Amino acid sequence: MQNFSLVLFGVTGNLAQLKVLPALYDLEDKKILPEKTRIFGVARRPMSREEFQAYVLKILKTKNRHHDHEIKDEVWQRLSARIDYIAGDFNDPVLYDKLKTALDTAQTQNRIFYVATYPQLYSTIFDHFRRTGQHNREEGWTRLLVEKPIGTDLKSAQELNALLAKYFSQDQIYRLDHYLGKETLQNILTFRFGNGIFEPLMNNQHIDHIQVTAAEDFGIGERGMYYDTVGALRDVGQNHILQMLTLLLMESPTEFSNEAVTKERVRVLEKLVPMPSSVVFGQYEGYSQEKHVGQDSKTDTFFAFKTELDTARFKGVPIYVRAGKKLDRTVTEMTIVFKTPINRLFKDVESGMEPNALVFRIQPNEGIVLKILSKTPGREKGLEESYMQFCYHQLSSQLHDAYEQLIADAIEGDQTFFNDEIEIALQWKFIDPLFANAATPVSYKPGSWGPKQADQLLKKDGKKWLDPSLAFCAL
Ligand code: BG6
Repeated sequence: MQNFSLVLFGVTGNLAQLKVLPALYDLEDKKILPEKTRIFGVARRPMSREEFQAYVLKILKTKNRHHDHEIKDEVWQRLSARIDYIAGDFNDPVLYDKLKTALDTAQTQNRIFYVATYPQLYSTIFDHFRRTGQHNREEGWTRLLVEKPIGTDLKSAQELNALLAKYFSQDQIYRLDHYLGKETLQNILTFRFGNGIFEPLMNNQHIDHIQVTAAEDFGIGERGMYYDTVGALRDVGQNHILQMLTLLLMESPTEFSNEAVTKERVRVLEKLVPMPSSVVFGQYEGYSQEKHVGQDSKTDTFFAFKTELDTARFKGVPIYVRAGKKLDRTVTEMTIVFKTPINRLFKDVESGMEPNALVFRIQPNEGIVLKILSKTPGREKGLEESYMQFCYHQLSSQLHDAYEQLIADAIEGDQTFFNDEIEIALQWKFIDPLFANAATPVSYKPGSWGPKQADQLLKKDGKKWLDPSLAFCAL
């Protein structure tokens, strides 16, 4: 890998603390950061370099859901030697002059600007890049990493993308959706297209329906200021959930390249049918008492909807999605429920007509599980549900964190698992109509599976949500 300087705007913010700094540590641990790589944190809070190093170490030692391993002293020594801090107000030209001077002293021309800030600040930051000649330099490469929210609807997303395009070319812009970096999601492509035996079953002849559950057992915590302006459907539906569906439903790319993989993801988004009348919005009891949330907030903390892919292969296969906060448990999975052929040998035996199901467990207990029926041992003609499972924890190598994976891709200049602007626009084209006739969210009890209306959505079609079992791939 080539040396580079990484500038992390918003280094004291939530995203940097929970995801980006831990990912940089992991990259250092795996010796992926080349020798002369420098990392500059940028934020408003005044701090000396030493204070900043102490701050980063404290963050790294604070365990979080996705980063809870030990911090090794020798790795930290290497990382701390390359980190530096530049304090300043993002509106102040002096900040960018200081940044330019710092970058000029680095022994590399390559730059990654990671703007982990509110999008409202982008245009100011980019104007200063332009003034100081940072955005489009002749020597080395310059890349920009941005994250959601990329707009709050189609129009604002297009405006934001147009703003990015004013300063950077498309091959410089890395729009990060961390779900695309999840090992368990990337593995769906290998599972489907690296094996020959599953793909022939992936169609409306064999599949009864598909279910997606993305549940979290915790609330919005300290994030009310952001969350109350977006709600669940915009927070995870427009991006993570739709990306999960693209990988599950896409046709085989002609090759493993950015262009070919992105093209197939785009095709799925073009054919996914929004069904506004199916949408259920929920809000957990007590949400309006959360910090920075309005008393009469109508923000959704849960949503469920039905959709379908309008292609010859999948037409007629209903897809049900539910996601939300403060639900029964934290679990994300996609399940393909297969049709039950009427001529099954054991149709007269109890549970003899139970469908086979294939579960892609994204987290926790990561793995892929095939639910089958097997003979109850003994002389009686009985059947029982069994599971054939591939579990990540049985692999010798560790699961890589999504941010670690994607930052490494950005360093290498690989955009395969980043979004392009067409994808973002298509995501909003799907989501916008779901909001068009949005009803007031229905209140639900923390610890439940959301409002009853979400159960009705499937009941109407003679189906029910499957209970995501934490026994799969349990350690
Ligand atoms: C983020 C959302 O993008 O994704 C959060 O803003 C959500 O609200 C999170 O909790 C889920 O990501 P993960 O990787 O923890 O499933």
